[in-house]
Amino acid sequence: MGHGGILNQLIKEGAMYMRPKLTDVAQRAGVSATTVSRVINNYGYLSQATKDKVFAAIKELNYQPNSLARSLHGKKTQLIGVIFPSLSNPFFAELVEQIEKRLFQADYKTILCNSADDPEKERNYLRMLMANQVDGIISGAHNLGIAEYDNVGLPIVSFDRKLSNNIPIVSSDNYHGGSLAVKELYQAGARHIYFLGSFHEAANPTDNRLLGYRAMIDQLGLSSHVHALNFKESPNLKLVSIQKLLQTKLADGIVCTDDLTALLVLRCAKELGLKVPEQLKVIGFDGTDFIQSYHPELSTIVQPIPDIAALLVDLLSKRIDQPDQKLEQLQYILPVKFLRSNSLLF
Ligand code: RIB
Repeated sequence: MGHGGILNQLIKEGAMYMRPKLTDVAQRAGVSATTVSRVINNYGYLSQATKDKVFAAIKELNYQPNSLARSLHGKKTQLIGVIFPSLSNPFFAELVEQIEKRLFQADYKTILCNSADDPEKERNYLRMLMANQVDGIISGAHNLGIAEYDNVGLPIVSFDRKLSNNIPIVSSDNYHGGSLAVKELYQAGARHIYFLGSFHEAANPTDNRLLGYRAMIDQLGLSSHVHALNFKESPNLKLVSIQKLLQTKLADGIVCTDDLTALLVLRCAKELGLKVPEQLKVIGFDGTDFIQSYHPELSTIVQPIPDIAALLVDLLSKRIDQPDQKLEQLQYILPVKFLRSNSLLF
C-alpha cells in the first residue's frame, strides 16, 4: 500500500484527522469548487438543488470555511480580538462576558487574549490577531506604551486606556465616581478621607478617579490624603500596605479605586478590630454583579458594564463597516451610580 494509501486508511479509521478542504466538499457534492465558493458566499444565481447538495456535503464532512482564506478575498473573517489584563478580576470577567455576548449577536466570534500586565505578551497577541486577519480589536489591557497600537491597521476601540491618539476610548465617568465617593463619605460623617490606589498620571481615564477625589476634597475644605497602592500588586502585598495605613488610625473614610481592594480594607479593618462603618467608612469602585451578590456589605461606585460592552461593540462595528467614517468623538464617558451599603451606613 503506497504512502497515500496508508494515509487514506488512517483517515478512514479515524486514526488521523485531515481538515476537509473546499475541494473535498466539491467532490462530495459533485460540483465545482467555484460553485461551492459561490454557495458559501451566496453569490450569483444558484438552483436550490445545487445549494442543498453543497450544504449536505458541508455537513457530512463538517467543513469549516477557512476564515483566513475568506479575508484574503477581501471578505470579513467575522473574528474579533478581545484583549484584557486579567479574567480572574470579576470586573473584567463580567465585561468580557457582556462583550462576547454582544459580538456573537452581531455575528462575530471572539478570540480572547489575556495580556496579564505583560507588555511582551500583549505585543505577541497583537501580532497573532493581525496575522489571523481579525476584523477588529477591543482592548482594555493595562500595559502602557505599546507602540504597535499606532500601526495595527485594524479597527480598534479601547476600554479605559489611551492606546493611541486615534483609538476611541470608552470608560465610565471616573471623575464623577471619585468625587461622588468623597461626597458620600463626607455626608456619612467622615472627615479624614483617604484615596487608596494607583496614582500614576498616565493620562488614562481611571486616573480621573483621583482628580475627582481631589476636587471634592478641596470643595469640602478637607485635606487630601493619597495612599499609593499598585493595582497590579498581589492581595498579600496590598494587605501589608493597607495594614500600615489602618494602623495609623488617621483615616475615617477610604475611597478605594476598585472593589477587590475595598474588600481587603474591610478584611484588614476586621483583623485590627476597627469597626466599620462606626470607625471607618469604605467605598469601592466597580459594583460588579459578583460584588452585589456576594459582598452586599460593600458600598461602591457602580460602573455600567452592560452599557460599556454595548458601546464598545457598537463603535467597533461602525469602524469595521464604515472605515472611512470619522467618529464624532474619541472619548465616550458613561455615567456611574452610587450603591450605598453597610460599609458606609451609620
Ligand atoms: O477592577 C478593575 C479596574 O480596572 C476597574 O475599575 C476598571 O475600570 C479597570 O480600570
